[in-house]
Amino acid sequence: MILPNQRLFDTNERSAGPSGTPEWEPDIVAFCCSYCASSAAALAGSKRLEYPACVRIIQTPCTGKIGMEHILESFEKGIDGVLVVGCLEGGCHFVEGNLRARKRTDRVRSLLDEIGIRSERLRMVNLSDSMAAGFVQSMQEIVEAVKGLGPNPLKALERRQESAGKL
Ligand code: FES
Repeated sequence: MILPNQRLFDTNERSAGPSGTPEWEPDIVAFCCSYCASSAAALAGSKRLEYPACVRIIQTPCTGKIGMEHILESFEKGIDGVLVVGCLEGGCHFVEGNLRARKRTDRVRSLLDEIGIRSERLRMVNLSDSMAAGFVQSMQEIVEAVKGLGPNPLKALERRQESAGKL
């Protein structure tokens, strides 16, 4: 599995808002299993359904392959929100991968609350391969939720440490 790379540290002030001030766009990573989730994403594309451009999709064979460390590393690297997208319960091509992913996601959500990053930055959804609209809706929902929370606090911490090192 390929994890977010250096590009994830880019500033995410991408466009100007109505007042001319930069409008903040969160950096979101969506881990999608290569079966139902990726098929739903492809179907959304072929139907020309749009989802926010700030979501980057990382394909994984099954959500069961996503470890807690992969999710935590994303936040550590400054990602503002993470979405895990797997097959419907009972529909995982590796039998119980999505059930394991659900447990891990729940554990990481608790951790995020404990360390003050907020569990709302992490979601898991289960989709079938025909749920293109559900795929798009999930993307829109996490983007809106994260916009409401603001940037990942670890990003600000990193910037403070960088500027302290420069003094
Ligand atoms: Fe889709 Fe396991 S193959 S979640």
